[in-house]
Amino acid sequence: MSNAKHPERNGLVCVFLLIRHLVYLLILFLFSGTSFAELAGYRNAIASAHASASEAGMQILRDGGNAFDAAVTVAAVLAVVEPYSSGIGGGGFWLLQRASDGSQVMIDGRERAPLAAHRDMYLDTKGRVIQGASINGALAAGIPGQIAALVHIQKKYGSLPLPRLLQPAILLARNGFVIDAIYQRLARFRQDAILQSTEARRIFLVDGHIPATGHLLKQPELANTLELVAEQGRDGFYAGELAKKLVASVRSAGGIWTDRDLREYQIVEREPVQWQWRGLHITSATLPSSGGIVLAQIMNILDEFEDVSLTDIQKIHVLIEAMRRAYRDRAIYMGDIDHVKVKVAKLMSQHYAGKKSMDIDMQKATPSTFFDEINRNVQESDNTTHYSILDRQGNRVSATLSINYPFGSGFVPEGTGVLLNDEMDDFSLRPGTPNAYGLIGGEANAIAPAKRMLSSMSPTFVEDSNKLLIIGTPGGSRIITMVFQGILAMYQGMDADEIVARRRIHHQYLPDVIQFEPDALTAQQQVQLKALGHQLQPLDRPFGNMQLILHDKVTGRTSAASDPRGIGLSIVD
Ligand code: DON
Repeated sequence: MSNAKHPERNGLVCVFLLIRHLVYLLILFLFSGTSFAELAGYRNAIASAHASASEAGMQILRDGGNAFDAAVTVAAVLAVVEPYSSGIGGGGFWLLQRASDGSQVMIDGRERAPLAAHRDMYLDTKGRVIQGASINGALAAGIPGQIAALVHIQKKYGSLPLPRLLQPAILLARNGFVIDAIYQRLARFRQDAILQSTEARRIFLVDGHIPATGHLLKQPELANTLELVAEQGRDGFYAGELAKKLVASVRSAGGIWTDRDLREYQIVEREPVQWQWRGLHITSATLPSSGGIVLAQIMNILDEFEDVSLTDIQKIHVLIEAMRRAYRDRAIYMGDIDHVKVKVAKLMSQHYAGKKSMDIDMQKATPSTFFDEINRNVQESDNTTHYSILDRQGNRVSATLSINYPFGSGFVPEGTGVLLNDEMDDFSLRPGTPNAYGLIGGEANAIAPAKRMLSSMSPTFVEDSNKLLIIGTPGGSRIITMVFQGILAMYQGMDADEIVARRRIHHQYLPDVIQFEPDALTAQQQVQLKALGHQLQPLDRPFGNMQLILHDKVTGRTSAASDPRGIGLSIVD
């Protein structure tokens, strides 16, 4: 008998099947020790910027490790195979969610200013910024946090021993890996800085030149350093012989580190920021990363406008105006919460967004000079790294790690293999003077001893009853707006591959331009935006390297995606 003739019977059958399914799941759950995570159908998934890191992390999960174990392995491998992006000479933020109790935490492994640092350390006697001093060489390096963070994650959240977790990175450092085209491009970009450091030059160049395609890069000193950490934990890096070598070498190259800086470095477990937007629950990085707060502000300002009543171009206009205002607040109010007072709750409130939106004119762009008159150009770069991990239990990790500029400061202390960061440039060197990403800042982000520099890194979780998204990307000042556009794409129903591939636009208050990737705006949209008074800056290269995991709770499907702009690999197992 055909059911098509009896739609009511069709409906009844469906209801019956659904109830049977639910009863079956309930029995399974009650009597077989099955967890909610298994019912939700989570799979092991990793997306990272390099195939070796994703594969090594997945092996850890297959060997019975959890997402936090895998997070240690992925970070350590990236430190070896992406020396231009992140490393044990740098730092980062790890957003964790533990399945057993649903608790969320941000591990703040951000670099700190050395104790001898002071607010004018990059200014000459006339108060001008000394070009390059916060970007190249030993003086540019903050005290690294990555090893302290990895050891902490393994100890508190992991289940496998540290030597096992570091083993893939040690092998890759010792036996070598074949460099990629991104390595060649970024090494060329930073060749001058690398040439200044005898050790960096020996390790990362060949007779002072960019290594040829197919070059096998071996880092035996880095392998030894990682082995020390595997044996001794954080003391392998922050105390003893290695610490002595780091400090001596930094100081002889004009840096100001002391033994105390390394000994006293501490990670901080922070409560991430959380808010609701259009039915989505969002968890993201808190200060010293501006990421979550700026993201929330952009979203709140958008909610001051009735989205459905806006035309396509008005939506872009309002988004740009929201970005402009949120980045202005970043510049003025944000800095390390342990050193300056920041009214986080106020900045994230809808009431505040209401006030911020009042001067948005739907007929024309608000010039950033309306707020003040500083205007500088942004330099381009791409480095830093992100990875996302989900395991079958439902543990989650979203981590963005950095040594700041490509190849960091370009400086490697003798006999350590540790390429140091140049994260000090993320401080506001002088009020109103832009950093490498064109970001300006003021008092809140001024340099002070042991202070953490303001960041844009935005590892984020997004969840509602239908979906879970683990997302993040590198991209300097553009990180926050990229993560926003990723969340928007998910909200609009895009799948994992579509979200990472989506073309991006960006505004950061100063410089007062809309930056956009090739094809991100149609010719007509460009004309319309110009007519509203926006200045456009088309970029000739795409930006970002988004790595995400998307789990559909309705279908039970876990997918992962690596940005097609990079060479990353996503694996679902
Ligand atoms: O912490 C920050 O915001 C920067 N140091 C991140 C740098 C970065 O993402 C560069 N990538 N393109």
